[in-house]
Order: sequence, then C-alpha cells, then structure tokens
Amino acid sequence: YEVQWDADAADKGGWSSFMAKEINDQPDAVENTVRGRVSERGVEIPELTALGDERLAGIDRVIIIACGTAAYAGQVGAYAIEQWARVPVDVQLSHEFRYRDPVLSERTMVISVSQSGETMDTLMAVKYALERGVTTVSVCNTQSATIPRESDAAVYTHAGPEVAVASTKAFVAQITALYLIGLHLGRVRGTLSAEDQARAVEQFETLPAKVREAVDTHDQIAQLAHWMADSRSVLFLGRHVGFPIALEGALKLKEIAYIHAEGFAAGELKHGPIALIDHGQPVFVLVPSPRTSPLMHSKVVSNIQEIRARGARVIAIVEVGDTAVLPFADDVIRLPLADPFFEPLLQVIPLQWFALELSTAKGLDVDQPRNLAKSVTVE
Ligand code: G6P
Repeated sequence: YEVQWDADAADKGGWSSFMAKEINDQPDAVENTVRGRVSERGVEIPELTALGDERLAGIDRVIIIACGTAAYAGQVGAYAIEQWARVPVDVQLSHEFRYRDPVLSERTMVISVSQSGETMDTLMAVKYALERGVTTVSVCNTQSATIPRESDAAVYTHAGPEVAVASTKAFVAQITALYLIGLHLGRVRGTLSAEDQARAVEQFETLPAKVREAVDTHDQIAQLAHWMADSRSVLFLGRHVGFPIALEGALKLKEIAYIHAEGFAAGELKHGPIALIDHGQPVFVLVPSPRTSPLMHSKVVSNIQEIRARGARVIAIVEVGDTAVLPFADDVIRLPLADPFFEPLLQVIPLQWFALELSTAKGLDVDQPRNLAKSVTVE
C-alpha cells in the first residue's frame, strides 16, 4: 500500500491554485503585519523608532516608489500618510523616478514598496535616492532581500511567501504596512490626535474578521464570472482610495485573464471614459460608505446612474446596508462596515476573485500567466 502524496497540492493547502490559497490567506496577512506594532501608545514600528524621532519629525516630503501592484498599494497608502502625518506624499513608478531629476533633500523620505525586494527598477531607484542622502524605508515581504538590506530601515510585511505571479496577499499587507507607517509618523510629528490613533488601532483589530467576510464573497463572484466569461472589456470606477483599487482590479484582469480592462477615477468619467459606455459594457463600481463619506457616496451613485442610463451593466461593491444603489445596479456585492481608509482592504478582494474566476473559466494558468514573471530582476 502506497500513500499518494502530491507535494504541489499540499503546498496549495487544498486550493486549486496558489492564487486562491493566497487570497484566502489575507486575514492572516493583515493580522501578522500589524502584530507587535500596536501598543497603548498607538502605533510604534521599532524599525522607524531606530531612525530617531527628530529625523522623522523633520521630513518635509515623502515619495513612494514601486512597480505594478505594489505601486497601487503605494497610491492607497499615500492618501493615508498625507492625512495622518500631514506631509505631502507623491507616488512615482520606480522606473520613472530617476529620469525626472526629482527634487530631493535630506528631509525627503523615499518609501519603496516591493513584495520580492528584488525588482531591479525599484532597487535602482532606491540606490539613486540613497546617493542623494534621503531617508529610505523599504516595505518588503521577503526577509533579507536586496532592497530592504540597502535601505535605511525595513518595515516587513508578514504576508508569508507569495507564489502566484499575480499579487494578492502581499498587496493588502503592503497597504497595512503603509498605514502603520502613516500612523507612526503622525504620532511622532504630533499631527494625529490620540482619538484618531485609537480609532485606527480599533480598525486594525477588527480588520482580519472583515477581510474574512470579504473572502467569503467568493461564491457570488464565481457566479458573476460565469456569465461574464466572454467579456472583451471590463471597466472599474473608484474614488479617493477606491481609485487605486479600480486600477488594481483592472490590472488583475489583464494579468491573469488577458482581458482588456481599465480603471478610472469616478470623477474623471465625464471627461472622457463615458464615451466608452455602450450597451452591456460591464463596469465595477467601488462605492464609498454613505455613513462616513456621504458626499463622495452621492457623487458615485450619480456616476452609476449616468452609466446605467447608457446601457452599462453595473456591478456595485457597497457596504452592507447601502440601498441607494439598488435601483441602478445589476449586481450588488456587500462588504462589512469599515472606516474609509479600511474600505480598500476589503473592496479589492472580490476583484481578485473575479480575475481568478474569469481566468479559470477561460482555462488559463491562474498562477503562471503568459509573459509575466513574479519578480523582474532586469531594468
Ligand atoms: C512584477 C509582477 C507584479 C508585481 C511587480 C512588482 O511585474 O508580475 O505582480 O506587482 O513585479 O513586484 P515587487 O516584487 O517589486 O512587488
């Protein structure tokens, strides 16, 4: 009698693909990234404390550099760091950064974001920044990779090894780490009230359970993907932190389902993209909370009305209890209540599932899409 043991299936924890396993790992990815960094004093990241509070208090500009999915995590993080630490934050693609002769000083902080820590474009950008005397902080998922070793400080994401080429759990862990950096800077710089600090800490505590609920949207998304398997183009709309999530939703679909997809800032719709809307055009809309962001919510609901009137098939991602979209949406995906900065960590999950299910429906290799590599070590 011989026991059949399939190492590959064991690594995937019984899931059909690494990507499916990694989407499912996301509650742990955020929990492990927060662990040990939150105390009664609020958020404290020992690696940043080691840089010295004076140095952090003196930072007058933050530039986040990254490529691909990590750059979208950077875009989400930028809103929060700017809000909490009251410092201007830009996001630049690593390969664009050096060639624009950026204005840098000793008071600049460059935060690189990289799952692998080996992406050559990002490494070269970090080296360029180091040569100009800026403070470099690496947000990285791989212990002792080149980028964190070269940087002044490393803030590791603890998502665990990510195997699928399309990044999922590293993305939510990157946003989490950037938020922690924003809260740490806000505390040291005195720009964040104790109340806001406590509120964010409370959001982190309840986040893993909410992420689990977002993962549980799988069956609903699988059904949706089933009838959409022939789609030739899919659009994504989001506002504020939902905007980079729209970009990420589109990227996932391009990467693993080879479908043309684009993400837009919802407010930009009337400045061009609305011309694309035709009968049956699928559009995912990330709807901000009506409780916490009533103004943005009403703007996005009118966007939905505009595209619906032109024949779009609207898939609305909303917080539970939001009934305003019901008359105008063909499908509604409900997510748990969260503060505005914590919505994107939930909203991205149905979009990850959607790309995975569409890729599967087309019979493609979910984990190893054509032409792509997990880590690009050439410039
Ligand atoms: C490659 C991968 C992407 C990834 C990007 C950045 O292009 O295919 O999934 O987002 O590199 O990788 P990094 O390891 O720097 O996060």
